[in-house]
Amino acid sequence: MLEFKPLTGRPKDVAASLVIVGVFEERMLTSAAAELDAASTGVLKRLMESGDVTGRVGTTSLLHQVGGLSAPRVLVVGLGEQRKFDAARFLRATREAHKALKGLPVETVASYLTEVEVPRQDMAWKLVQSALAADYSAYKYTATLKARPERVELREVQFSAGSYQGDALDRATAVAAGVALARELGNLPPNICNPAYLADQAIELARRHPEVQVQVLEREEMETLGMGALLAVSAGSDNAPKLVVMDYKGGNGKPFVFVGKGITFDTGGIDIKPAAGMEEMKFDMCGAASVFGLMEAVARLKLPLHVIGITPAVENMPDGKSYRPSDVVKTMAGHQVEILNTDAEGRLILCDALTYALRFEPHTLIDIATLTGACVVALGTVATGLMSRDDQLADELLAAGEISTDRAWRLPLWEDYQSQLETGFADFANIGGKYGGAITAGCFLGRFTEGQRWAHLDIAGTAWDAGRKGTATGRPVGMLVQWLLGQK
Ligand code: BES
Ligand code: MN
Ligand code: ZN
Repeated sequence: MLEFKPLTGRPKDVAASLVIVGVFEERMLTSAAAELDAASTGVLKRLMESGDVTGRVGTTSLLHQVGGLSAPRVLVVGLGEQRKFDAARFLRATREAHKALKGLPVETVASYLTEVEVPRQDMAWKLVQSALAADYSAYKYTATLKARPERVELREVQFSAGSYQGDALDRATAVAAGVALARELGNLPPNICNPAYLADQAIELARRHPEVQVQVLEREEMETLGMGALLAVSAGSDNAPKLVVMDYKGGNGKPFVFVGKGITFDTGGIDIKPAAGMEEMKFDMCGAASVFGLMEAVARLKLPLHVIGITPAVENMPDGKSYRPSDVVKTMAGHQVEILNTDAEGRLILCDALTYALRFEPHTLIDIATLTGACVVALGTVATGLMSRDDQLADELLAAGEISTDRAWRLPLWEDYQSQLETGFADFANIGGKYGGAITAGCFLGRFTEGQRWAHLDIAGTAWDAGRKGTATGRPVGMLVQWLLGQK
């Protein structure tokens, strides 16, 4: 975790290993860049005249040992054309600046990018976004890597904040800790991060935050409760299922309840997935990871709300004991469900966890899940899929996504889609037809949340960055914390 501090000195005499300043295209310096330029007898202007520094948005140039400055390094960041500068460009430039720091032997950084005016955004927003970008870049997965010899690592980032006196940087630290926890749990391999490990992590979280109470339900209790769908998914695994409940009682109102899909590895079961890309299914517990991250952030922020996080943690494996296509299982809610695909397992563990959640009489109930490939087809990796019957709740979540730049896009849950789940052998099936797969999954969950103020977030496209070095993103912790901050 990085430390964040407000910055008081001016660019030429700040005591940091590196100073970040922005320049616009057409040789327009920001005020901090102009101060550096003056102190260094025109270095920046000369570099812009020669074309070495263009100011194009997101470009970065690292300068060493510039005369007249106390910091040994300057990172010049392009902000693009001044008249086109907006929040999106601010974020792009900020993120590129922090990416450019990776691998540099710098311990402290002083950034003046936050001084630049961003249309329609205030200083608090600039500080939170900058701090989160810095921490996101600084995160390194090391859990299963050989210990590296000691190197200089980034420890502290100072942001120029003008006369701002608020608590944005403390808030950002809490959110960053939640995001980092969600990323770390997501990235851990499934032979370590199995259901029992997730249960232990909840106990660890409660140890860090005594205001969080943890309860772990074991298989026997799930049998007593009649969680036939969750138990069917877990049947093929030697790792016993766990239902983890984390209860943060910062207020006395009805609880905000979050349910996160915790499939610690999704082989597909008897409907086994193709080998290519199966390793990515270690990320199938990222919904659960985001609930852990959210609880971490909520506890650090000491929000005056009652917040409950529930994560069903289960592994989906093929085995002689596995559930099969055409099995009919009875859910805790009493519905009989025909299994037409054992790879549509997420909704099966979620439906029993959602039914369990009803005992807490939620103010609002939100589930988060890497639920469908269809959602990735629909929205790509930019937006989380949001489904809800409640327009006000949907609008609140969309707005929280905009502010936090952790965005969602709404898909419909019209009755017209429900018929896809019909079957002659049970109350309904666990899959719909060929099309609209993200929505039919939402429809399935909707049958277990009737009468609730409920939303479903499909994070299949947003929970991790694909690719060989794919890493968890910690989404949608940012959006959900932002939404909760508006509920006080
Ligand atoms: N965990 C997957 C969804 C998924 C797929 C997330 C790819 C991210 C990337 C889920 O359990 C699954 O397998 N869903 C099936 C549902 C289908 C069988 C109706 C899918 O999307 O193919
Ligand atoms: Mn699956
Ligand atoms: Zn899955």
